[in-house]
Amino acid sequence: MKIWLNGSLHDESEARVSVLDHGFLYGDGVYETVRVRQGRPLFLADHLVRLKNSCRVIHLDLPWTATAIAQAVDKTLSANQCDESALRLQVSRGPGPVGFDIRACKTPTLVIVERPISGAPSSFYERGVVAAIVKTRRNHPQALPPEAKSTNCLNGILAKWESNRQGAFEGILLNLAGHVTEGTVSNIFAVQKGRLVTPSLRCGLLPGITRAILLRLARTSGIAIREMELTVGEMLRSQEIFLTNSLIDVMPVTRLKIPAARIVGDGRVGPVTQLLMNLYRRKMDEFCAAVTAGRRTKRSR
Ligand SMILES: Cc1ncc(COP(=O)(O)O)c(C=O)c1O
Repeated sequence: MKIWLNGSLHDESEARVSVLDHGFLYGDGVYETVRVRQGRPLFLADHLVRLKNSCRVIHLDLPWTATAIAQAVDKTLSANQCDESALRLQVSRGPGPVGFDIRACKTPTLVIVERPISGAPSSFYERGVVAAIVKTRRNHPQALPPEAKSTNCLNGILAKWESNRQGAFEGILLNLAGHVTEGTVSNIFAVQKGRLVTPSLRCGLLPGITRAILLRLARTSGIAIREMELTVGEMLRSQEIFLTNSLIDVMPVTRLKIPAARIVGDGRVGPVTQLLMNLYRRKMDEFCAAVTAGRRTKRSR
């Protein structure tokens, strides 16, 4: 697979960055994970808006426009010709002297790495997965703003280590006040008496692209929504729980470990989750069809 690095494509063995890149030294950078379906980068425009916002939060002046990055994505996809993949779009602070003074880092590094994916097994979507409430708490928003999708992922890595030890698919982090925030790499939703609830952004979580799309889909389908503070007790009283991210779409959770395992609802994938799974899949199909139609129109001009 070819890797985009600072303006050109390279073989993996030749794509090298400096050991003095502050991304390597300090995890000083931001990134996006973009799902590629039928060769199309899904919701790329939304990811590029969030990337820009992440850069703003960490005071990194992005020297590339969204159009320039989208063109780099296109070139990477054309070179690799992979229909189903995940793109990692990463901007790091770039090389500079050792130390926290970012003013000395003049040239950010842009890397685009594509990897083929086959997706989670269909049985996960049919039967649901296990999620574990972990002890590691989500970074406090005033310590590390969660709206920046930072390459500094140790908080999530420690939480994932805990959830792996419990044999769970995903670990769920609480904030310092004990409210549910999100998974290590996913947002979380629950269904309570037909109403869709999800932790509000104020709880300290990444504003997921999938989360936002799903909230819009739910709203247009007439499902009542509430973004709120949620305790573990409230999660346990929910009839349905599911996770979202760009790679897993909508993943039902049918057991919650707290750490004792508890069945969610009746232990089966619920009707609201199923409806939203279908709507989200349709949304992805529509997106791919619209991009294809747009390209055809451009070619015929
Ligand atoms: C901490 C965290 N929350 C939520 C998400 C889901 O975001 P998205 O739907 O944009 O993939 C991710 C994605 O990786 C994440 O890392």
